[in-house]
Amino acid sequence: MDRRQFLAAGAAAALLRPAFGSAAAPLDLGALAASRGIQFGSAFDREIFDDAAYAAFLPTQCRLGAVSNSVKFDWLRNQSWEPDYTAADRLVDYATSKGLAVHGAALIWNDWPTEWIKRASNAERRYWFDRHITETVGRYAGRVHSWDAVNEPFWPLDGGGDGGLRVGPWLEAFGRDYIARAFERAAAADPNAVLVLNEAFCEQNDDLGNGVRPRLLELANELKQKGAKLDAVGFQAHLMPHLPYDDAAFAAYVAEMAALGVAIHLTEFDVNDSSFPDDIAERDAAVAARVRDFLGAVLQVRQVDTLICWHLSDRHSWYDEVDWYRTQVSDGGGNPARGARSHFFDRDLKIKPAALAMAEAIAASAPR
Ligand code: XIL
Repeated sequence: MDRRQFLAAGAAAALLRPAFGSAAAPLDLGALAASRGIQFGSAFDREIFDDAAYAAFLPTQCRLGAVSNSVKFDWLRNQSWEPDYTAADRLVDYATSKGLAVHGAALIWNDWPTEWIKRASNAERRYWFDRHITETVGRYAGRVHSWDAVNEPFWPLDGGGDGGLRVGPWLEAFGRDYIARAFERAAAADPNAVLVLNEAFCEQNDDLGNGVRPRLLELANELKQKGAKLDAVGFQAHLMPHLPYDDAAFAAYVAEMAALGVAIHLTEFDVNDSSFPDDIAERDAAVAARVRDFLGAVLQVRQVDTLICWHLSDRHSWYDEVDWYRTQVSDGGGNPARGARSHFFDRDLKIKPAALAMAEAIAASAPR
């Protein structure tokens, strides 16, 4: 942080701290981010159907809502090729009625294949790939602002395919070309949708992160050379503090990616708190410190124009849904029955130190 950024951060803190809990000047992360040229939002899904308080809260902070599951292939076409758009329609209607831009996560992903697509021939898969994109992107044209056209293309460790690609039905059906094809078909179905190539793990400074980085850069370059409508590269940014990180090196990599002429999105931002102590104050401080360091480095890259949390509050945390998180907590010496505190507001939707750290980093970000 240079002197200007330091002063900006201090000013933001001075502005924001007294406002906590005060009705006079409640925190609005979306407005703060917009003032810096950053679109701010959160993942959301069917939890909003049964939680009116949460459904009312999200738009107080967000200007974008990322549908986290219900627009995925396996959720739309779970039992057969025949789609069920009921929940997705409701979610898109909710977000648009609240003035939120909608992001679809994700259009094409090799993970979570349905049973019927696993049994299908490659010729059938090619047909359903094209048809799924055309129908789904076409249905929401003009209502969904952006799509992760392809999610998580790489898995360069054991079990990965040629070129470190993540294996699954679409890779099997088309080879590497499935990626360019997804962009081509999505752009044809909605020429105005912002199309994102979304990837995990790049933030980490370990074999996995360093394995994915050059491959993703090469892929993005290849797509650009081919004239694909690659608008943005998304970095999920599920930070895992039990792994090694070098935020400055990652920010330099992000700048290199942006130099290809793509916008940069942080698409699934949170801090996995499994390695932090049970004590809530200590844990919240550790999460906030991680937020401050990471965003402090990455938001200095001017092409980062979108920041999406996954999720906004501990009230609906995806970590609480997955078994491996509890195993990580016990491996880290914590009580596996504790709930995740990986997000920015608590279960009562009260602001946490992580939200302040995020606000400070946004306030200190380079103007777009
Ligand atoms: C998560 C969902 O939010 C959860 O509901 C689900 O139980 C697990 O997956 N990377 C991705 C997302 O691309 O699809 C994942 O979403 C989070 C990690």
